[in-house]
Amino acid sequence: MSSTVLGVLVSGRGSNLQAILDAIREGKINAKIGVVISDKKDAFALQRVKGLGIATEVIERKDFATKRQFEEALVNTLCEHNVELVVLAGFMRLLGSDFISAYPGKIMNIHPALLPSFPGLNAQKQAIEYGVKMSGCTVHFVDEGMDSGPIILQQAVPVASSDTAETLAARILEVEHVLYPRAISLYCKGRLTLNGRQVVITDENVK
Ligand code: GAR
Repeated sequence: MSSTVLGVLVSGRGSNLQAILDAIREGKINAKIGVVISDKKDAFALQRVKGLGIATEVIERKDFATKRQFEEALVNTLCEHNVELVVLAGFMRLLGSDFISAYPGKIMNIHPALLPSFPGLNAQKQAIEYGVKMSGCTVHFVDEGMDSGPIILQQAVPVASSDTAETLAARILEVEHVLYPRAISLYCKGRLTLNGRQVVITDENVK
């Protein structure tokens, strides 16, 4: 099977991007990254692909009059690089319907909570403040809502009484770095099928 072309959208540190790069290098994902797009010019994520021969683009919202024009620029760039799966890796913007309809069922996101609990910003802080004993992370397909699309994979992470938002975030992040490459790999192998809101995984017990 030929390798799937990924377009990775980032806003910051890019540790999930790094996990994806590592998994591709180790042969765990049959994909290549066609382009990394950042909506912040100084995002550390951009440094992570320096010297790897991967195209990078900075597309900032402030350079466009409307959200629609900004997203049109994102879609055009993804198309120029023949992207087949859009991977949001710490991309801190809600995408509109024009973007989503350009890649139906082909946009993934990772969120640091067990959705549908604690969508939106500061999910780990929300979990601490609510007092849950279990949180975790979720990889899901993106729809027009806030972290509301069909769930692909989830993994629980226990919350300790002594946790702060920061210590919980660090523990969840370690799990994110395993879960996201696994979800992308399943997609690239054609093992994810949408049945309404349900994501059916072919041979679910096979790694
Ligand atoms: C990750 O924890 C990711 O789950 C979260 O931002 C962090 C990005 O880290 N995303 C969201 O909260 C999206 N709602 P990274 O830049 O090191 O991958």
